[in-house]
Amino acid sequence: MSDVKTGTSVNEIRSAFLDYFRKEGHEIVPSSPLVPRNDPTLMFTNAGMVQFKNVFTGLETRPYTRAASAQKCVRAGGKHNDLDNVGYTARHHTFFEMLGNFSFGDYFKERAIELAWTLVTREFGLPVERLLVTVYAEDDEAFSLWKKIAGLPDEKIIRIAGSDNFWSMGDTGPCGPCSEIFYDHGEHIPGGPPGSPDEDGDRFVEIWNLVFMQYDQISPEERVPLPKPSIDTGMGLERIAAVLQGTHDNYEIDLFRAIIAEIEALSGVKAEGEKKPSHRVIADHLRATAFLIADGVLPSNEGRGYVLRRIMRRAMRHMELLGVKEPMMHRLFPVLKREMGEAYPELVQAEALITETMLLEETRFRKTLERGLKILEEEAAGLKAGDVFPGEVAFRLYDTYGFPLDLTEDALRARGIRVDVEGFEAAMARQREEARKSWAGSGEAAEEAIWFEVREKVGATEFLGYETEKAEGVVKAIVRDGAWMTELKEGEEGVLVTNQTPFYAESGGQVGDQGVIRTTEGAIFRVRDTQKKADGVHAHYGKVEKGVIHVEDVVEMEVDHARRAATRRHHSATHLLHEALRQVLGQHVTQKGSLVAPDRLRFDFAHPKAMTAEEVQKVEDLVNAVIAQNDEVITRLMDIEEARRIGAMALFGEKYGDEVRVVAMGRQPEGTGNKETFSIELCGGTHVKRTGDIGLLKIVSEGAVASGVRRIEALAGDAARAYLEAQERALNEAAALLKTKPQEVPERIAALLEERKKLERQLADLKKKLAMGGGAGEEPVEEIGGVKAMLKIVQDIPPKELRGLADAGKAKLKSGVVALVDVVDGKAAVVVGVTDDLKDRIDAVELVRAAAAKLGGKGGGGRPDLAQAGGPNPDGAKAALDAIRELIAEKAKAAA
Ligand code: ALA
Repeated sequence: MSDVKTGTSVNEIRSAFLDYFRKEGHEIVPSSPLVPRNDPTLMFTNAGMVQFKNVFTGLETRPYTRAASAQKCVRAGGKHNDLDNVGYTARHHTFFEMLGNFSFGDYFKERAIELAWTLVTREFGLPVERLLVTVYAEDDEAFSLWKKIAGLPDEKIIRIAGSDNFWSMGDTGPCGPCSEIFYDHGEHIPGGPPGSPDEDGDRFVEIWNLVFMQYDQISPEERVPLPKPSIDTGMGLERIAAVLQGTHDNYEIDLFRAIIAEIEALSGVKAEGEKKPSHRVIADHLRATAFLIADGVLPSNEGRGYVLRRIMRRAMRHMELLGVKEPMMHRLFPVLKREMGEAYPELVQAEALITETMLLEETRFRKTLERGLKILEEEAAGLKAGDVFPGEVAFRLYDTYGFPLDLTEDALRARGIRVDVEGFEAAMARQREEARKSWAGSGEAAEEAIWFEVREKVGATEFLGYETEKAEGVVKAIVRDGAWMTELKEGEEGVLVTNQTPFYAESGGQVGDQGVIRTTEGAIFRVRDTQKKADGVHAHYGKVEKGVIHVEDVVEMEVDHARRAATRRHHSATHLLHEALRQVLGQHVTQKGSLVAPDRLRFDFAHPKAMTAEEVQKVEDLVNAVIAQNDEVITRLMDIEEARRIGAMALFGEKYGDEVRVVAMGRQPEGTGNKETFSIELCGGTHVKRTGDIGLLKIVSEGAVASGVRRIEALAGDAARAYLEAQERALNEAAALLKTKPQEVPERIAALLEERKKLERQLADLKKKLAMGGGAGEEPVEEIGGVKAMLKIVQDIPPKELRGLADAGKAKLKSGVVALVDVVDGKAAVVVGVTDDLKDRIDAVELVRAAAAKLGGKGGGGRPDLAQAGGPNPDGAKAALDAIRELIAEKAKAAA
């Protein structure tokens, strides 16, 4: 690096470019992610203009009309794919940075040429005699502008016919004729000027492409004018750095020299001779890998993840070629971080995820790499240049040893051996067919069958929802009532499947997202639920509110943000709750079930008995303490063994892949133990960024669901606040009714209850008095055949008081019979008391039975001096007393 001229390091050039355009009134826009959110037809962001696509076409407006950026790009997979060339040429990369300036209907050709020419010749100081340009064959205007502005002679303005000077971002999208600036490295490098037969040599290098954006390619056949002519330019940072650092080779620039020096140090192999391509492949692929992971792509067997896996495995084979036996890629990350971490802080943020993913993929692949390479060697041993390697074997290497096809091709390329790709594909198709047949016979529910067809036809849905809640997608399948459809009309219910989606599909207890899917034509599909089908298909259930949705429509998909945010809070809160329960109740607490919804969470766990109020409080306090730490929630990917080792809580019986997502949050609050991280769980759900985002946790209930299983229901964030507000409102209402302050409500209620008890007692006394004739003096006493009798109907005297009343009556009479019929709760009770002097003649039991018969009751019991009975028919009260009266009369007569 020491021999790099001041001002020409990669980092300095990037800054100089952006500063120049800032001074020229351009908004400096940060690089967009490598996974395009606004273009589902693109595998990866492959140019600076991608994030501005909709601005060019007029769909989107921004507060500026001029912009400049340094954009991360990947060209591996899709229209612009350079993977196979990387390592063997001076200028191909999978990952590179594109410097660009943009005009959205602001300036056009003339100003664009002026700006570029001034930067290149004045700011960068490139000698004019080294420069030449190309224009689109028919573009006379550009031709004369170059003449005028740059003063270039005619022979240095080369007209190029056809697609080389017509730039388009993909099969569709903004496009237009372009004009390129070339740098001539000089005669000592082989190669001819653009348009000449040996233009592919390294002598003349395109350094800057100015695209005069004029059209929108809306389908392969149709091109319409953009609302306003615009400008899109792209200058490969690595190329201009090479020019400014006096080399024609991108891999000789300071950035790559630093990385390659590290590869040399770690491998002990110099980047010379036949080993040189390997160093370059590793250096290039290191960048692509790190940046893709930082933007949320993880190695997998499908889509973007598979491109990443291919890149990583290709790098690993080249490490093997250098004789490296231990995982090395993750050890190269520090040098990349040093070189690029300042310009791209996402690298630093995702460091753990990047290095762990690298290590994991390397460890796993290493196991089979050597054996696979051995087979490859054996099979290729008898072949010579020009021969064809059997597709069947390439497929076996792919299927059994995880060798992507291009890895096998790459390994044989140096020897001039081609792989039979058709044979490979035929073998692959055969295997799929067998898998399908065996699945069809396995008795899965018929209605689910269609999802396996969908899975096979359109593949797994790429989930973008960890990173974004809004993205574009292409409708790949429409399903209605278990059948394939080509469109869905207004008012119809159905299921949409897209190639990528920000919608989370229900799993791990977390409910599926809701939201809206819109086509560019204005059709609206309201998503009411998202479910995961056939191992990776996100099925968006809902209804067309407006217009018609067709298969292959490009759609904008937007998750209901508020609902997702609320769901996230409840999910993260669930993790904290789980750990808090274990700390408060013990390690036997294991999750038995969970629901994570926007408005609540439910957590079932093993615990033998009800929690005490103090335990509930402790758990809640602990969770809230971790929420208040407001630490970042960290997500990492690792293999299941490692995850278990670091103590991640995995659910017993859950099916996990080899790679697991680990979510860690919070620190152990002070003084509660020495475990550093508070919660570590395996989880595929969506979580808050920082624990503070949860806001608050409120446990609202704790109860039993089954023997040994308890259930907690709790609320987080706004839901918790709303709950507390409702509680407060109720308390305030109570206070208002009690005419006191809320804090004094309990005291006031205690006083009221005390008072009520007193009043009840007084009331009972009064009733008793009333029953016995009140205090008014007139005793309801009659004489029946010389026997004094007090016969009364009373109301609502608690039956247990009746005996006391009868005794009191007896005492009052001294000698006589007391009979009370008590009408209470719609029934009647009767008590009869006979003073001792009379009990031989008049039996209380006999009297009470006669009375009970009138009350619809049977029997009655007691002693001759006191007996009780009851009956369901209080209407017979009077008749009951009459029956007693009659009997007394009878007995009195008999005695006389
Ligand atoms: N978009 C143009 C390119 O990628 C500038 O070359």
